[in-house]
Amino acid sequence: MNLPLCASATPASDTLAALCKAGGDALRLNILRALANDSFGVLELAQIFAVGQSGMSHHLKVLAQAGLVATRREGNAIFYRRALAPAGELGGALQSALLEEVDRLELPLDAQARIAQVHARRAEASRDFFARMAGSFQARQDLIASIGQYRDSLLALIDALGFAGDASAIEVGPGDGAFLPELARRFARVTALENSPEMLELARERCLRDGLANVELRLADALASPLVQADCVVMNMVLHHFAAPAEALRALAGLVKPGGSLLITELCSHDQSWARDACGDVWLGFEQEDLARWATAAGLACGESVYIGLKNGFQIQLRHFARTDARSPSQE
Ligand SMILES: C[S@@+](CC[C@H](N)C(=O)[O-])C[C@H]1O[C@@H](n2cnc3c(N)ncnc32)[C@H](O)[C@@H]1O
Repeated sequence: MNLPLCASATPASDTLAALCKAGGDALRLNILRALANDSFGVLELAQIFAVGQSGMSHHLKVLAQAGLVATRREGNAIFYRRALAPAGELGGALQSALLEEVDRLELPLDAQARIAQVHARRAEASRDFFARMAGSFQARQDLIASIGQYRDSLLALIDALGFAGDASAIEVGPGDGAFLPELARRFARVTALENSPEMLELARERCLRDGLANVELRLADALASPLVQADCVVMNMVLHHFAAPAEALRALAGLVKPGGSLLITELCSHDQSWARDACGDVWLGFEQEDLARWATAAGLACGESVYIGLKNGFQIQLRHFARTDARSPSQE
């Protein structure tokens, strides 16, 4: 039987055609590269690649129609991120292969510089917030999730990991230091890395009040190689303040000694955009699978997770990630 020369399109061939079309443009490939470990709004992407907003919207629509990017509403803004390739479905293998090749691309230097500017703006907004709001910190924290709501679960997770008596801990972003007494009781040495002088002062007052002699408080950006490592790195409600959370996880993995653990308490993805103004949140929580993907990319293995639903509708995720490699970050 002779097949017709021009067979009409089927939904299956449409799927593949949309993928090939989306991948057939250098700018769109660079957009996918920029979204490898980050998510950006349309305006940010327009700025990063120096194109008009309507042009960028068109490219994002093509990528979204092909299933290569997904959107996430963050308050009034829409953020774009890479979509997961549909394993076992038509187009899934092509999508994975395309993204694998895309990850070998080097973004143009000017685009890299503009991404750094976007991150710097986000980080600046977060620092400003904690400098201004130290006085009302606890009340603001309590609007979403107070430490009392996850303290016991987090301690159970830490205790279950069975750290040795001489083990050390780092707390990243301790804020007013409410969790430091618990760490000081369980670890031989505790280092607190806090980049807000105002918040560090609150933590210092607590350490003095509670006589925590084994806690060292450092005014430091935890993501800027603070030259310290510990068996257990704890970070509570901080990730959503970081400009680039995937990159942050890479830096945090470097704080964990080989064989050690990173414990992250974080909000699950939510749509309460008032949290940006009231609590200085840069991100409205995170999808569980995003944290797992970023941690894996940072060389960490996913361990136990605990989820805690709150009466106010927020959900907390407590995540354990293990550093299983034997190499130290200086060898990487
Ligand atoms: C929402 S508070 C959480 C405080 C505390 N962990 C808690 O659960 O109550 C976030 C804290 O992280 C700090 N922080 C943000 N970025 C940081 C960074 N790059 N390095 C160190 N601390 C940081 C902020 O200054 C702030 O004290």
